[in-house]
Order: sequence, then C-alpha cells, then structure tokens
Amino acid sequence: MKEQVKHCACQCETDQEKLERIGQVIEEYKDKEGSLIQILHIAQGIYGYLPLSLQQFIAAKLDLPLSNVYGVASFYSFFSTTPRGENTIKVCLGTACYVRGGKKIVERLKNILGIEVGETTTDGKFTLEVMRCIGACGLAPAITINDQVFKQVNPDKLPALLEKYY
Ligand code: FES
Repeated sequence: MKEQVKHCACQCETDQEKLERIGQVIEEYKDKEGSLIQILHIAQGIYGYLPLSLQQFIAAKLDLPLSNVYGVASFYSFFSTTPRGENTIKVCLGTACYVRGGKKIVERLKNILGIEVGETTTDGKFTLEVMRCIGACGLAPAITINDQVFKQVNPDKLPALLEKYY
C-alpha cells in the first residue's frame, strides 16, 4: 500500500508547499558532494520525518534508486522514517549512565509513555530514544528532552518532569 505524505511538523504549510520547498533544496544541493545526506537533513527539517513517499520523491528528483535513499535514511540514527513526537526524550546509555541507572530510566519511561524505544506516543507528545555519552558522565544518569540536559535523573521524578511538557 502506498504511504501517504502527511503528519507534517508545521501546521501552517501544506504538504504540497513542503514538497516544493524540498524540490528547491534538491535543485540547490544535487550537484554538491555528499548532497544526499544534506538533502535528507533539510527535508527532515522541513517535513518532520522521512516517510517512504518523501524518499521516493527525493530519489526521483536525484535520479537515484530508492534503495540508495532508503539505505542512507535508515542507516543514520538522526534520520527518522516515522513521525516524531513534539518532544524527543533521549536517555544516555553510555557506560557511566548505564551503570548508574540509565537502563532503569528507559524502562520507567517505556512504562509511563506506553511505548518502546524508537516509538512515539499516540498523542504525538513524546518520542523515546537512547543515545551515547553526552559528556555529563560525572552527573550520570543523564537524559535530554529536546535540547535540554537533565542530570542525576531520579526515575521516580520522571512523571513530574514530563508533566511540564503537557
Ligand atoms: S555516559 Fe552518559 S553522559 Fe557520559
């Protein structure tokens, strides 16, 4: 079944307008080295994520097989092929954080949000991810919510922390 292009990150621009904008970006970048990754980055910024239909659009514009585009989009963890939540929670699972309770935080968040790692809540509020060390090891375990870092996170305080994002 063909996937529809929808679930945009920005409500004020139609999907068609976004595709036009992405088309312009492709024109601008297509002859530059490493252009596919750059284009996918910008396309994700415009669209919010990289659904298959958008990958097909990019592949056609670049005259590349879809498998090339899909290969890159699915290889790098910073690309998402499913809709992302309004807020992204990332739990550090670097050594220090892992040892000091990072895994417990992941389990608690999965429980609170009712999703697995890599998934988004049905209300579109949160996407849960894990990440490598962010250099806050001295104050492990650490998580980020969007661009904000939270250190020495206590799993019992997670519900109150998430409350602030509703
Ligand atoms: S291991 Fe988590 S911040 Fe370094």
